[in-house]
Amino acid sequence: MEHAQENEPIMGTDEMLQAQLELCHHSLAYVKSMALRAAIDLGIPEAIQSGGGAATLSDLAGNTGIHPTKLSNLRRLLRVLTTSGILATDEPGDGEAAVYKLTPVSRLLVGAGDSSRNITPLVGVIVNPLVVTAHFSMSEWFTDERAAGVSLFEVAHGCTRREKMKQDPADGALFNAGMVADSRIIMDALLRHAGELLRGVSSLVDVGGGHGAVSVAIARSLPHVRCTVLDLPHVVAGAPPDDKVKFVAGDMFEHIPAADALLLKWILHCWKDEECVKILRRCKEAIPARDAGGKVIIIDIVVGSGSQEPISKEMQVLWDLYIMYVDGVEREEHEWSKIFTEAGFSDYKIIPVLGFRSIIEVYP
Ligand SMILES: C[S@@+](CC[C@H](N)C(=O)[O-])C[C@H]1O[C@@H](n2cnc3c(N)ncnc32)[C@H](O)[C@@H]1O
Repeated sequence: MEHAQENEPIMGTDEMLQAQLELCHHSLAYVKSMALRAAIDLGIPEAIQSGGGAATLSDLAGNTGIHPTKLSNLRRLLRVLTTSGILATDEPGDGEAAVYKLTPVSRLLVGAGDSSRNITPLVGVIVNPLVVTAHFSMSEWFTDERAAGVSLFEVAHGCTRREKMKQDPADGALFNAGMVADSRIIMDALLRHAGELLRGVSSLVDVGGGHGAVSVAIARSLPHVRCTVLDLPHVVAGAPPDDKVKFVAGDMFEHIPAADALLLKWILHCWKDEECVKILRRCKEAIPARDAGGKVIIIDIVVGSGSQEPISKEMQVLWDLYIMYVDGVEREEHEWSKIFTEAGFSDYKIIPVLGFRSIIEVYP
């Protein structure tokens, strides 16, 4: 058998350079996140919007408080944002005369008010220094004896994510704002299916519904559906009151108020299988039989469902690794099916219509 010589290249030169390019590209992925976060913190998308949808480098410098010595650095930041499709420019060289505009991506980073589709707070939840630091502990978490049974977040910060939010109301408020922003984005798509999803439903409990953005939208759009939000006492205490939605403080592991339908948006992906089964058993106790219209509506990722575009597929598995910081998991269909059966449900239907997430109807 022939052995490769010690100095013999393991691949051709072109292949090696391509591999190096790809590795560096992966290694620098965090720089794109940081550029996005910096653009938001500096108010660049808002400055473009308030300038009528177009701004030059000096307009942006003037409107974002950039120090004069940093003008050329701002151009470098903008070049990453335009190369990534977050902003657009009419001049390939990004020179002094370049005019920067919003793209469909950055249009989601502007606007205020209840009807806005601004997901800046959601980006803040994802690119949060506490979470980024937790991910830095990933290899330690995989191997260290002391990390057995605790989440990545605990390894990094000595407390769970939920404890941290409870201790630090400002941190909790940022998280809740992120959830509200996300809810507003998916509501249009959800409401398109709500007529069918909620046919015959006269009461709905939004389990772990946070500040109630989904319930408020459903109650406005379908006034015959009585909507209740169940969440932990400190979350309910900070929720803005609404005349159409009732807020109930409680623990979904203990008791869920009775309703025709229950909604669990971005809940089960935060919990391990055995905890999901417990929550779903409480759900089953709260709803009527299937032929009386009882159902649980889950909004979460079903890994492998929906678009097969590379960006969607990568998004689903990235989110799976991201949510590992709280010991959460994104599930494939067979994993969902297993927990539904264990919790005593008879059937389910996956409706992959919410971007990288799906609606899952689960029947008792
Ligand atoms: C990821 S957030 C999702 C919030 C909301 N459903 C949404 O998607 O906008 C999870 C929510 O579950 C709530 N939660 C966590 N543990 C809970 C419990 N034991 N009982 C009720 N709610 C709980 C949290 O306070 C938080 O509001």
